[in-house]
Amino acid sequence: MSLLICLPESMNPDMLSASLKSLDSSLKVEIGPEMVNKKEEVEFAVVWDHKDGILLNYPNLKCILSYGHGVDKLLADTQLPADVPIVRLKSKKMADSMNEYLLTVVLMNRRQLLKHALYPNEFEWNVSSSLNLNSIGILGLGFLGISAAQHFIQMGFQVKGWSRSEKNIKNVKCYSGNKGLIRMLEHTDYLINLLPLTIETQSLLNSETLSNLKRGAYFINVGRGKTLEEKDLIPLIDDGQLSGACLDVFKTEPLPKNHPFWKHKNILITPHNSSTTPHSSVAPQIIENYRRAICGEELLNLVDVKLGY
Ligand code: GLV
Repeated sequence: MSLLICLPESMNPDMLSASLKSLDSSLKVEIGPEMVNKKEEVEFAVVWDHKDGILLNYPNLKCILSYGHGVDKLLADTQLPADVPIVRLKSKKMADSMNEYLLTVVLMNRRQLLKHALYPNEFEWNVSSSLNLNSIGILGLGFLGISAAQHFIQMGFQVKGWSRSEKNIKNVKCYSGNKGLIRMLEHTDYLINLLPLTIETQSLLNSETLSNLKRGAYFINVGRGKTLEEKDLIPLIDDGQLSGACLDVFKTEPLPKNHPFWKHKNILITPHNSSTTPHSSVAPQIIENYRRAICGEELLNLVDVKLGY
């Protein structure tokens, strides 16, 4: 019986292994498919950015855990073993780290700190900043979206949210459906994308949809790059429909060196690091799901493969 960790080196699989073993020293953990001696022993696999098809190598695999929030990359593997359930991580630490990023970006923009840093010669002394941008619109009201909404409410923002199915969340004006999307955008100063990438959300944010935003709204993408029709963004900013954008995710990552986003003064780029997954904080839920998978019990944070999240 063993648990296989299939993570890129940059995600420190050794540290995850140490965190898991510190909770259960009897656990047999194997790091990387090339280190597995007996493929039939692998019952649980923790994966991120794995090589397509490799999960077919383990005949006794009982569960696949996606080491992250979005499962689009994992589900894009057309050779996943049939009938092996997929679970994902949900961690308060992950949500806290995302909230910190979102709040930083919104407040920095609201107080124009980046502009002040870049153009100190353009200061207008003793003129108070206009603080009339107060409305946050969150696309995607899952675990991270709800947590972000609560965070912004606590800071005194008006928060709206949009999701595929109807939701009812305290103090959040919730919208769903195509008409709901337009209505939410019409009242949004800061648009935050936290949607999973699915067939429905691919290119959902394009010149047509984003033209419904309040003029001069600011866009933050921390969901997936492909939800945005990238070629539409710069024209929307140059036209003044958007005041700018902060992007953490892209169609191609790392963002190619010659991509026009790099050169645009109103686009802030971060390297897909808006939220992190601290090993020690997620080790308990990995062990719990491993135990449940072996015992045939109901799994935590099960992915609905049909819905894609
Ligand atoms: C990161 O992008 C994640 O999905 O966790």
